[in-house]
Amino acid sequence: MTSQMTQEKTMSIKEAIETRHSIRQYSQDPIPKEHIEEILELVRLSPSAWNLQPWRIHVITDYSLKEKLQDAAYGQKQVTSAPVVFVVTSDMEDVISNLADTVHPGLPDEKKEQEVANLAQFFNGLSIEERGQWGLTQTNIALGIMLVSIQGLGYSSVPMLGFDQKKVKELLNLPDHVHFAAMVPVGKPESEGYPHHRHPLEKIVKYH
Ligand SMILES: Cc1cc2nc3c(=O)[nH]c(=O)nc-3n(C[C@H](O)[C@H](O)[C@H](O)COP(=O)(O)O)c2cc1C
Repeated sequence: MTSQMTQEKTMSIKEAIETRHSIRQYSQDPIPKEHIEEILELVRLSPSAWNLQPWRIHVITDYSLKEKLQDAAYGQKQVTSAPVVFVVTSDMEDVISNLADTVHPGLPDEKKEQEVANLAQFFNGLSIEERGQWGLTQTNIALGIMLVSIQGLGYSSVPMLGFDQKKVKELLNLPDHVHFAAMVPVGKPESEGYPHHRHPLEKIVKYH
């Protein structure tokens, strides 16, 4: 599916990054499905090692489910305040069960088989938890792209990991091996975020 510019105005990448703040109060107006899909289409393009794309995203609009997620998130009110909540998960066991799906379709058949065999050998050498953590490092890239995409397309968000993961797995019927990158309430902002407070470049960068 090609992305369509459903939003009236999109921001430059610089503007989206500079203006993004975590927002914890939203207008309850529903987000049109095309806008949700436009965000997800951008997230879908995220890069990952070996192109394995382990992210699996749950889109929650049902109010009673949001109430239950909010309880699991220790009552953090942004969950029900937002019209849409994305729960960004990583499922490496699903990836490993369907390795042929991830191999580039342009490869000749014997190369495809070889690549699937190489990947299977690598991941079979890791425990379920180790490969789950490996997948999560990839899924966090998609989370970052999601936060910038949401902002760039005219909405706000807040990434959250302050929730009881076991409870959220029960609510969304997720198997034990699944990892969470974040729960992400999304909507039009009804409050301002905090000003950016970030380390200077000298602290985080070394030139060699
Ligand atoms: C992985 C992750 C988990 C977070 N969990 C929560 C959370 O549970 N609740 C919350 O209010 N904010 C949460 N935050 C938001 C951070 O507090 C916020 O991003 C940080 O203070 C920087 O502020 P800014 O996003 O407005 O730039 C989380 C952020 C990240 C990246």
